Amino acid sequence: MLNALNHVAIAVPDLAAAVAKYRDQLGARVSEPQDVPDHGVTVVFVDVGNTKIELLHPLGENSPIAKFLDKNPDGGVHHLCFEVDDVQSASDGLAGQGVRVLGGGAPKIGAHGKPVVFLHPKDFCATLIELEEA
Ligand code: CO
Repeated sequence: MLNALNHVAIAVPDLAAAVAKYRDQLGARVSEPQDVPDHGVTVVFVDVGNTKIELLHPLGENSPIAKFLDKNPDGGVHHLCFEVDDVQSASDGLAGQGVRVLGGGAPKIGAHGKPVVFLHPKDFCATLIELEEA
């Protein structure tokens, strides 16, 4: 079902500091910050060749990553995103196996303009999993 690792998302308390680390210390290509109001985050994409790192920073009042940063004030790995052919059928199949698909299993448009769903970390080795149609 999984075709590729699309990105690893890292929540960071200071976006400019995180960008400087990846760009200046590691020499990675980084995007401009992009606001994604539907997901309550500002994202910077870091191109590492075979996949991407997404640096996530809270945007707005009810950002889903605000609580994560409360618990992890220095930031940390927030989720892994895998590519699938058909996100709705992946969601339905996993829900049928008892996996909790967040948001009732209905895909939302993600940071790349493609449908995504998230799987409950308690059902995946304490790791939040995003599935993206790609
Ligand atoms: Co993501």
